[in-house]
Formats: sequence, structure tokens, C-alpha cells
Amino acid sequence: MFSITSRDLEKKILGCGDGPASFNAELAAKGGDVISIDPIYQISSSQIQSRIEDVYPKIMEQVSKNTADYVWDNIRDVEELGKVRMEAMKTFLRDYEDNQKSGRYINASLPILPFKDKEFDLALCSHYLFLYSKHVNLHEHIEAMKELCRVSREVRVYPLLSLSNNQESPHIHPVMAELEKKGVEVSLVPVKYEFQKGATKMLVAKQENIILSIRKHNRNRFHHRRQNLN
Ligand SMILES: C[S@@+](CC[C@H](N)C(=O)[O-])C[C@H]1O[C@@H](n2cnc3c(N)ncnc32)[C@H](O)[C@@H]1O
Repeated sequence: MFSITSRDLEKKILGCGDGPASFNAELAAKGGDVISIDPIYQISSSQIQSRIEDVYPKIMEQVSKNTADYVWDNIRDVEELGKVRMEAMKTFLRDYEDNQKSGRYINASLPILPFKDKEFDLALCSHYLFLYSKHVNLHEHIEAMKELCRVSREVRVYPLLSLSNNQESPHIHPVMAELEKKGVEVSLVPVKYEFQKGATKMLVAKQENIILSIRKHNRNRFHHRRQNLN
């Protein structure tokens, strides 16, 4: 979903809103440098486990009712989806229990992150921003993306569809415009992964070097002046 390359995996990575996903556990086991944040990390592993046991059957029931909204290629059916997701959560729970003191799981919430400017090379945010556009408003999206761009050189967000109607989130373009105003380079990049039908793009935001940004600004001004003279 993020078009991750082997070079990306060597970067210092922030997983934002990672919840009970296994990316952190799997990458750290391979020697990767990764930190996850989520407000759910304020509770213990057994509390997270009972929350998963409580919520998961309901999520599976929802997916069963709306199978047409998903692409069943890599995962064949709802039963297999349940197994794959449960395996990932078990991997997470083992790691979270063992490594809670390692500092790889931090209790924090957007839009305020406890990190220095550009502490990370790459921040990844999946299934939180844009997906919950009905509950997280435009202002909150803008503040969250600005904060992610503050702490990381590059930010990738996926998916960009709203869960409520499977349509592109209404916040995408206003957020992109706001980031561009701040000198952040933004683009919508196609990805190969597609599970939620139509979720085929990620948002990539890169903070240009400030010098380059000033040069670009001056170049644009020069270009406009020349056009006016013509
Ligand atoms: C649907 S889960 C996605 C988990 C994981 N990223 C994945 O793709 O499987 C959404 C996550 O966003 C987290 N979340 C909610 N509010 C948040 C906030 N303000 N900042 C960061 N994460 C938040 C939730 O606790 C939850 O774990």
C-alpha cells in the first residue's frame, strides 16, 4: 500500500496510527529502525487483546455484508481475511508485550507528536487519515498532516477513500493545497495494492529543502515576470 522499497526499509520510519498492526514487529525483527505511535498504546497488551476480541467479529460481519466493496484477489474470502488479520495482530501483541520498554510503541496522538523536527526519514499512516473523513474534520486533517511533515522528511498516507461511502475523501485536495502553501511538495501516487475497491493511490508529501524551496519560489517569480513582459 506504500510502494515500500528495500531502500525505504533502511530509513528511520514512523508508523502513525499503527494500532495492532505487525509492521513494526516484522521490520524490527529484521533490524529496521521503526517507531509506532497510537493512542491505543496507553493500555496493556491484554487490554488491547480483549478489545480486539470484542470488536473484530463486528468488523468481519460488516465486511461480509459489503463484500462487493473489496477486491478478493490476494485474499480469497472473508474467512481468509480474518485469519490473515488475526495472525498479524498476534504478531503485534507478542512484540508489544515483549518490547513495551524498548520504546518502539509510543502512546501519542495526532496532531501533536513527541518528536523533533525531521526526526524521521519516512512517516507512514494507514487506515486512519482520510479513511475516517466523516469523524475527523478538515482542520484536524490539515493539522495532522502538517505535524507529520514537521517530524518526517517524507509522509505517505493510504487509503484516500472515505469509509462511509468508498469515495475519495473530500479533504484530499484542500489538505494538498494547504500543504503546498507551506512549501511541501505533494502528489497522488498510484500503488499496486488494492483491497478497498478503488483505493489505488497514496498521498505523498515531501518537505523540500528550504534553500531549494526559496530557489523555486524565485524561479516562479522570474517566470511570471517574463510572461508579463511578453
Ligand atoms: C483502523 S486502525 C488502523 C491500524 C493500522 N494503521 C492498520 O492499517 O492496520 C486506526 C488507528 O488509528 C488510531 N488513532 C485514532 N486516533 C488517532 C490519532 N489522533 N492519532 C493517531 N492515531 C489515531 C486508532 O487508535 C487505531 O489504532
